[in-house]
Amino acid sequence: MDYEKSALMFKSKDFHKYVPETIREFIDEVEPDVLEAHIDRVMTSPIKYINSFDRPLYQLYFTASWYNLFKTLHEDQKISLLEVATGDSCYVINALELHSYEKGECTTFNLNKKLGSSFITKNADKNVKITLIEDNGINVLNYFSVNSFDFIAFHHAINDIIQTIIAETEGIDTINCDWWVQEPDMLRAVMKHHKNGTLKQNAHGSFIKIIDVCSKVLKHGGYMIFDNRTFAVKEEIGYSTQFHDSYIALAREWINESGLPLKETVIDGYDSKWWMILKKV
Ligand SMILES: C[S@@+](CC[C@H](N)C(=O)[O-])C[C@H]1O[C@@H](n2cnc3c(N)ncnc32)[C@H](O)[C@@H]1O
Repeated sequence: MDYEKSALMFKSKDFHKYVPETIREFIDEVEPDVLEAHIDRVMTSPIKYINSFDRPLYQLYFTASWYNLFKTLHEDQKISLLEVATGDSCYVINALELHSYEKGECTTFNLNKKLGSSFITKNADKNVKITLIEDNGINVLNYFSVNSFDFIAFHHAINDIIQTIIAETEGIDTINCDWWVQEPDMLRAVMKHHKNGTLKQNAHGSFIKIIDVCSKVLKHGGYMIFDNRTFAVKEEIGYSTQFHDSYIALAREWINESGLPLKETVIDGYDSKWWMILKKV
């Protein structure tokens, strides 16, 4: 979603619940064009938070963008959503709550135990029905039949999925660890394979299998949506912003090669460098 539309949405009453109290006054008082410039700055890769309101703006941008997608792509208020590799993030669920209230259902597949339990705590006040499945998204067909979901969300998750696949090949435990303590090792392992030209050989099969099974549980006409952004801090450990910036392009290439029944849709205001919106055909 473009930043002008984001700024207007942040200022609207409907969105109030998702604006943290600490920045409500700032959002109310700042002019829309100034707010738009702040959002643009915050969302520019590699992302570095400078002001106290930068992180909330980043979070609000995703809640607003996913809400706008639900509204644009789905007439019915009732949505059955699957999110893979959610960690403890709230943005897609906030968007679902804003769109669907108690008619929304969200199932999330998440492997890391600590983040899973934090996810439940952080989303305890949500009006939507939430189910956490502590398993790999690759096993979704063990839990759901074909054509079960209206939307499948991969919010900032291509990197998490690839990191988890590579970590497994390197013997790194991503399930019982503190994700943030373990992450530098995961990133170094991904970089090693990227630089050696062995990333595709090691990650492609499992990644496409996840997309394949997800495409099966997605309803015909439903959407599988990916977003991505890159944080500056990763550069400090030898990670590459340029590489992380290209995750959507990489997933697009692999999915296109796979021949799965998914067709990319362009939505006004959603930059295809950072978003990929696929419809099941
Ligand atoms: C940092 S968190 C994700 C945060 C979220 N994507 C975001 O950026 O806001 C990474 C999570 O993805 C999970 N994950 C990675 N690959 C997964 C997979 N194939 N199935 C389920 N969970 C997965 C990890 O276990 C971990 O809990």
